[in-house]
Amino acid sequence: MASFLPAPSIPRTPSEQIAAALTDPGFGRYFVDHMARAVWTPEAGWHDHALVATGEVPMHPGLAALQYGQSIFEGLKAFRHSDGSVWLFRPGMNAARFARSARRMQMPPLPIEDFLDSVTRLVALNLDWVPSAPDQSLYLRPFMFGSETLIGVRAANEYTYICLAMPVMPFYPDPLKLWVTPDFARSMAGGTGDVKCAGNYGASMIAEHQAHEHGCGQVLWLDSATRRWVEESGTMNFLVITEDGELVTPDLNGQILAGITRDSLLAIAAEHGLRPVERPLAFAELRDGIESGRITEALACGTAAVVSPVVGIKSPDLDLVVGDGTPGPKTQALRGHLTGIQFGTAPDRHGWLHRVG
Ligand code: PLP
Ligand code: COI
Repeated sequence: MASFLPAPSIPRTPSEQIAAALTDPGFGRYFVDHMARAVWTPEAGWHDHALVATGEVPMHPGLAALQYGQSIFEGLKAFRHSDGSVWLFRPGMNAARFARSARRMQMPPLPIEDFLDSVTRLVALNLDWVPSAPDQSLYLRPFMFGSETLIGVRAANEYTYICLAMPVMPFYPDPLKLWVTPDFARSMAGGTGDVKCAGNYGASMIAEHQAHEHGCGQVLWLDSATRRWVEESGTMNFLVITEDGELVTPDLNGQILAGITRDSLLAIAAEHGLRPVERPLAFAELRDGIESGRITEALACGTAAVVSPVVGIKSPDLDLVVGDGTPGPKTQALRGHLTGIQFGTAPDRHGWLHRVG
């Protein structure tokens, strides 16, 4: 296995500047000094693994990823505990999903051990950038794109892997209202809805814009074929809590992203008196459940978003308030428990944390 070792003499941001950045990191406002990089070609496979200076990447305008969209990404976080130690949360899950995304997009999967080496060495070399303020973390953005200059359409013959790192706040600070768009779909049978390819996000922007026009923070996607089934939210999986103690989320039917946060919430549900249930969730059931009070809470979750209470659901002919319109107690307990594990204040019974450095 090749290692991501630092290139010599990369300038370091002075510690006062890092401290200033960490007072209000935003989301992607500041990047750490290094980024991981590796290149794939058919002749050499994965090579040139290194931690290089964060900065521009040379490209020809005929870049394959720009022309034909061979581009995939991941998102994971490193957390600082009160004793100063730094931990990655379930990085193996991201590595495996990254490889699945690559295969679906006819791209060469990055070996799991290379992915893990890149993220751990990148964080270890930039420990000063890992925030210690509550709710803040270091977000890692591994991605890969077809980096050959290519106009004739086919899978590229060169790929570049990069991992960027940045201090962040949670992505959605406030409880969310979700918009059910009547016009657009995110996913289809046989499509790319269950992988993290850039095109899924490009194709979703129009619906997100529509959501904002209707006073909602994100979209709640329904299935494209029948518009009967709830799939997920943009950038997040979707779950509901019922009055009889179920934590229900749509099953992974090949059209939904297998979220790592979703998996984690299902795993800790029982500790909150909740039965985890993965099954098709009809929009009619969601609507009737909220109207009758059978569904007491709704939530959306993801690495960037963490756990966001969903307090309203809106469509052209509906404006539903979930519960009393404020974050529900079980949602807050699940969020507190998950972030407690991540920040080291709750026991990590599942072995989800991996120490860096
Ligand atoms: N669904 C979509 C479309 C996403 O972009 C994300 C974010 O990565 C998720 C769900 C949640 O996945 P995870 O919890 O692994 O971040
Ligand atoms: C993540 O949660 O890591 C995501 O990928 C969501 C995002 C596009 C910011």
